[in-house]
Amino acid sequence: MSYYERHIFFCLNERPNGEDCCALHGAKAGFDHCKQRVKEAGLAGQGKVRVNKAGCLDRCAGGPVAVVYPEGTWYTFVDQADIDEIVDKHLAKGEVVDRLVLSPCIGR
Ligand code: FES
Repeated sequence: MSYYERHIFFCLNERPNGEDCCALHGAKAGFDHCKQRVKEAGLAGQGKVRVNKAGCLDRCAGGPVAVVYPEGTWYTFVDQADIDEIVDKHLAKGEVVDRLVLSPCIGR
C-alpha cells in the first residue's frame, strides 16, 4: 500500500523572463485552495491525500496544470469551483472529473 492514497502535484513554475508559464494563470491560487479544501475535508495525511508543489511538468500549453497519482490523471483548471470538483470527486472518491481532463495532445 502507498503511503498516500492519492497525490496531486501542481505546477507552480514561474519564468523570470516573462515567458508564459502556469504561474501566470492562477496556479498558486489553485494550489492554495486545494491545500485548504483537502485539509478542511479531513482528507490530508498518511493513507489519504497529499497536495504538493511542482516545477514545470512540461505541459505548459495547458496551464495551469496538475496531475493526480496513482491514476496519472492530468487536469487543467480555471477557478476555485474546478478545484472543489477535483477534491470532492477525484481526491475524495477516485472519480475522474472528465470535463477538466487535459487533452493528451497538449505538451509544452
Ligand atoms: S510551466 Fe507549468 S507545465 Fe510548464
